[in-house]
Amino acid sequence: MYTMGVDVGSASSKVVILKDGKDIVAAETVQFGTGSTGPQKALEKAYEVSGLTREDMSFVVATGYGRFNFEGADKQVSEISCHAKGVFHLVPTARTIIDIGGQDAKAIRLDSKGGIKQFFMNDKCAAGTGRFLEVMARVLETTLDQMASLDELADEAAPISSTCTVFAESEVISQLSNGVNRNNIIRGVHLSVASRACGLAYRGGLEKDIVMTGGVAQNAGVVRAMESVLKKDVIVAPHPQTTGALGAALFAFEAAQKK
Ligand SMILES: Nc1ncnc2c1ncn2[C@@H]1O[C@H](COP(=O)(O)OP(=O)(O)OP(=O)(O)O)[C@@H](O)[C@H]1O
Ligand SMILES: [Mg+2]
Repeated sequence: MYTMGVDVGSASSKVVILKDGKDIVAAETVQFGTGSTGPQKALEKAYEVSGLTREDMSFVVATGYGRFNFEGADKQVSEISCHAKGVFHLVPTARTIIDIGGQDAKAIRLDSKGGIKQFFMNDKCAAGTGRFLEVMARVLETTLDQMASLDELADEAAPISSTCTVFAESEVISQLSNGVNRNNIIRGVHLSVASRACGLAYRGGLEKDIVMTGGVAQNAGVVRAMESVLKKDVIVAPHPQTTGALGAALFAFEAAQKK
């Protein structure tokens, strides 16, 4: 039996197809989110990779910010539930999940069975999210996938005092014009994102294991910054950008079994 999870985020669209609730036969990401052709393109890629069609899917669950705009799902489930489900499936020792996406950051606390005990969300402000990193990558004339390796070349972090993205952007521009080392600025940017996300995680208490997920977890510079702020190890979920879609596909499998 095949089931599908579609995570329509603000920054990207993710699709996971599962066989019998355990084998991942497709996990595709397109870097365009809700309101774009991203969801459709991610679906097409997943069908192409798996050689399957919509008719092969016993149940489809949509999640993410744009889940209600996605046509063709049998059910919608919240992102918090889907991230918790996907991460717990991959890392059963997870008790604190930190998801940093394009538009918001979330901290979720789990019990030993994967049930959600508490969650905290920052969705009012771009600081501490992937959007902040996108803005900074542009100003620093680099790309998201290069930021972690440039951070590694830094000898210290150039601190950013503004918590507002707009002010922080001006601060980085003036650091650059004052000749501050670009790699040190990048480390400062990563620390700024990590401090905001860790603030959310602290609110729920910090139970081990701490697992990072969402697109920003692909940035090892942010992960290292999280570890330095929390003074604890942080596990990166395997294929972190698609864990929400995986959780949705797992919910779809449960629903299909009940049908
Ligand atoms: N290759 C990459 N390397 C490092 N970071 C990346 C890479 N690709 C994406 N990102 C980061 O991931 C972010 C998007 O994360 P994600 O796909 O989880 O967001 P989303 O689910 O669409 O957003 P949200 O959950 O907030 O609605 C980008 O803003 C960027 O900072
Ligand atoms: Mg997301």
